[in-house]
Amino acid sequence: MPANENSPTGSPRDGADRAYGTGYHVPVLCKAVVSGLITDRSGIYVDGTAGGGGHTAALLDALARDGRVIAIDRDGEALRETGNRLTKAVESGRLMLVRGDFADAVDLLGGIGIRAVTGLLLDLGVSSHQFDEPARGFSFRASGPLDMRMDARSGLSAGDVVNGYDERSLRLVLSRFGEEPRAVRIARSIVASRPVPDTSALAAVVRSCVPTQDELKTLTRVFQAIRIEVNGELEALEQALVGATRLVSASGRLAVISYHSLEDRRVKRFLRYGNFEGTPVRDVMGTLQAPWREIHRAPIEAGEPETVANPRARSARLRVAERTDLS
Ligand SMILES: C[S@@+](CC[C@H](N)C(=O)[O-])C[C@H]1O[C@@H](n2cnc3c(N)ncnc32)[C@H](O)[C@@H]1O
Repeated sequence: MPANENSPTGSPRDGADRAYGTGYHVPVLCKAVVSGLITDRSGIYVDGTAGGGGHTAALLDALARDGRVIAIDRDGEALRETGNRLTKAVESGRLMLVRGDFADAVDLLGGIGIRAVTGLLLDLGVSSHQFDEPARGFSFRASGPLDMRMDARSGLSAGDVVNGYDERSLRLVLSRFGEEPRAVRIARSIVASRPVPDTSALAAVVRSCVPTQDELKTLTRVFQAIRIEVNGELEALEQALVGATRLVSASGRLAVISYHSLEDRRVKRFLRYGNFEGTPVRDVMGTLQAPWREIHRAPIEAGEPETVANPRARSARLRVAERTDLS
């Protein structure tokens, strides 16, 4: 395979993140992901969040001819996008596309005969395409249905949460998953405004609860909270991290990009302590027992050129860890 086959405009090794970006999505921290995750150019890597295929393409370009990537996404549209831009890699068998939840990675991979991998990437949250497409209902900036499901086949939609949850449950969603200080008031207003027909109507209810200067932050938190609830995002993340400990082989790596503190806190604790409570477990000698060792103590963040070119990169935090307990 020629170098850069998957790169529309640039070299994989210069890692320019935009080189792998498309109108669908621009991957963040591409160079750091590739250099942090790949320890064996002939290994098997899992991109648990294929999205627009940007990281998948960068990984394929950096791997040897016999290196392979399995790209997973719960959104069928994302897998089609990834498959369309990487047809040659699919045809040659270097890339395999699997629809499903990364929480079930152990079973999904087991289903195709893979029990151990060299590295696993999770680039959490939604893609720009999902976010920008009004019909998906993720954004308060456009009018759309109260949907927000990453997997259009799954049951719970934003409408079920907004129009079906009792006031207390709604308040808990807003405070737990949005850390929203006005959760009580907003939950009460939503319940009083039912039926809330679409995203614009929901945004109007939220705006009515806050002063103008706080509208943007509050809308972001409220929509994020509902999205997390609809997609069970934090449960899926925890399950995927536990699964990674079963999947990634000795000296293999795990790379996770988080976009808010609820995600990053879980990733940080798990990588440091092997649990989500952040409880150190020590052996009789007092040595910390943990399956992972973080490569860098602090998360990797995007530099200014990247955040200027891609505002989405501003909140990105990349943590990379190596499997240590098997060696
Ligand atoms: C930020 S985007 C990934 C972008 C991708 N790295 C790229 O370079 O284009 C996140 C993707 O992960 C998918 N996703 C989120 N949670 C998931 C889960 N639990 N299982 C599988 N896919 C998930 C979303 O559908 C979305 O396509």
